[in-house]
Amino acid sequence: MTVRAPAKINLQLAVGPRRADGYHDLVTVFHAISLSDEVTVAPAASARVTVSGEGAGRVPGGNDNLALRAAAALARAAGLDGGAGAVEITIRKRIPVAAGLAGGSADAAAALVACNELWKTGLSQRELCEVAAGVGSDVAFALLGGTAVGRGRGERLTAVLASGEYHWVLAFADGQLSTPLVYETLDRQRAARGDRGPGNAVGSGGSVPVPGPGPDPASPGAAAAAVPEGSGAAGSGPGLNAELMTALRSGDPAAVGRELGNDLQPAALSLVPGLRKTLAAGLELGALGALVAGSGPTCVFLAADAGRALDLAVSLSGAGVCRAVARATGPAPGAAVIDAPSAAP
Ligand code: C5P
Repeated sequence: MTVRAPAKINLQLAVGPRRADGYHDLVTVFHAISLSDEVTVAPAASARVTVSGEGAGRVPGGNDNLALRAAAALARAAGLDGGAGAVEITIRKRIPVAAGLAGGSADAAAALVACNELWKTGLSQRELCEVAAGVGSDVAFALLGGTAVGRGRGERLTAVLASGEYHWVLAFADGQLSTPLVYETLDRQRAARGDRGPGNAVGSGGSVPVPGPGPDPASPGAAAAAVPEGSGAAGSGPGLNAELMTALRSGDPAAVGRELGNDLQPAALSLVPGLRKTLAAGLELGALGALVAGSGPTCVFLAADAGRALDLAVSLSGAGVCRAVARATGPAPGAAVIDAPSAAP
């Protein structure tokens, strides 16, 4: 059973103060892109994982592997104890590891969908999203795909009705960044400024407080497929960028480019100062907008159309400001089966 799952970028990432459990309340606009990993699961006597492709040597094995953890979490949720839930997981990576693109979360989401099919556990997408949220903050979004607002740790999702196709250029950096380290650096930067920073932090790109726990400007039909929001801490937390939502609804890449924002970007730039040069190069070469992906260090650039994305990708790779360049389009679908063994006769 083989499942493909997408990388994500955050068109907005507004980060609230650190919570008692160590996480940060977020308001984020997730956007799935066509860069993806493939995960195959097959029954096995005991659980194991093998990884090939981009950065395979840096993917943790054993119980630290998010795909294995996702399979174990689903087995528990479905009451498959003992060896019944053991699988061999094979991951073919195209999403770089620890790059801010939620590659590990994509693999976890793919494993959930694949095991749900393999074991015929029959969990709905909503139930799978609940299991996903226990595995990692970004895993539920990798199940859903498309464009969605994430709240809480990022796991409470509401689908967004976005128009059009967006053309992205990704600049992969040499190193990796640890997500907890980037959040800690943001906390330290804010403490040094005496700023707890819910909605007014640097780089939140025109955030406005969300008035009450009502629905986001999203398609009612599409929202039904997402995990419903609880009673969010509206008003006190970080706010959704209303201009970005308008730009997405109208499918206006220039306006989307202007509204991109990431509160983690100053922290990522302080840890990897060379990324400033990468961002500046992409903007000089005509990108409509540029930002660090999630906790970095990947930089992403929005282009006006496919032709300009190709031009930008070629120029960026010639500029010597990153390890490698890739193109991707968004929004892309969430984790989906691409190859299922045919049923026994
Ligand atoms: O949930 P996940 O394991 O992907 O998160 C990785 C780390 O990122 C967390 O341990 C935490 O340090 C940080 N994080 C956070 N607030 C979030 C999401 C992640 O502080 N909303």
